Amino acid sequence: MQAISWKGSYLSLLNQTLLPNKVEYIQCQDYRTVARAIKNLEVRGAPAIGAAAAFAMVLGIRELVVRLETTDEKITALAEELKETRPTAINLAWAVDRMLGVVQRYKQDSDLLDKLEQEALLIAEEDKQVNYRLAQYGAQLFTQPTAILTHCNSGTLATVDYGTALGVIRKTWSEGNVSRVFADETRPLLQGSRLTAWELMQDHIPVTLITDSMAGWVMRQGMVQAVIVGADRITCNGDVANKIGTYSVAVLAKEHNIPFYVAAPLSTFDFSMQSGDEIPIEERKPEEVTCLNGVCVAPDGVPVFNPAFDVTPNSLITGIITEYGVLRAPYEGSIEKLKAKKGDV
Ligand code: MRU
Repeated sequence: MQAISWKGSYLSLLNQTLLPNKVEYIQCQDYRTVARAIKNLEVRGAPAIGAAAAFAMVLGIRELVVRLETTDEKITALAEELKETRPTAINLAWAVDRMLGVVQRYKQDSDLLDKLEQEALLIAEEDKQVNYRLAQYGAQLFTQPTAILTHCNSGTLATVDYGTALGVIRKTWSEGNVSRVFADETRPLLQGSRLTAWELMQDHIPVTLITDSMAGWVMRQGMVQAVIVGADRITCNGDVANKIGTYSVAVLAKEHNIPFYVAAPLSTFDFSMQSGDEIPIEERKPEEVTCLNGVCVAPDGVPVFNPAFDVTPNSLITGIITEYGVLRAPYEGSIEKLKAKKGDV
């Protein structure tokens, strides 16, 4: 099962809005189909939308080449259109900018499209490798069977392969140190129940599904010994944007003295932002809250606030697991080292 795969001339995306009931793929022959899939969460998860956007750049520039329209203006417009599809996960802008770098270097060359395809494939391959590496660091945190709670979906479906937080859980499980995973349902779009529970069951990792509002009680009962979540953007001070509800889980973990870990690759760090206050938070349509599977569950016309992400302040985070090691507070220092040295944290 792969969320995203390049088929030589088009991008194949597993339509995650249909899971777990249907396994169906979308064939993206043009960049607009990819952009729509990102907006509609047919492909979702920070690293996965980064890789998808990289392939969308290949498809978009291919169209411009065919029409003899590879002007700077058109290329910039394409990049901006893709970046605007989802504003919070920095991986998306990071991947588009990386592709723009290739355009700059090979703009005049006849093999520009090959170079772009190679770069997108490299972004995808690197994502896999990085996830394996960070999973190894993360697994070292656990030396005995541990019940771990996670929020949203940070697994194979959210990445090119293996996952970030769920990758750590997979690796820790393979070493015998996961007794059970508690998956928060993750309202309003249910990534926890539809995707995380499904992924873990496919791998025969013991998972118990709970609604978001049960997390505190489960902790209070001593049923959870650690929390691991993914991230959509991490700022220089270690503040973390992730799926709405993550902040509440972090507060609960602090109250119950449970370590709260974030797992994310270097591509999720935004070195241009000092704190989480600067992170743009995507707001999505009210119907995601007022309706469940097309059925209305709220009074017609009720005002709705639907932020897709929240920011967890660094003070609530025990450690940030990266492919270069586990960062600890004070995060300004460890993140500065990550930026400067890469690989020598
Ligand atoms: O709205 P989504 O489903 O794209 O949100 C996904 C998350 O918040 C994940 O936890 C995050 O992207 C990390 S995935 C490795």
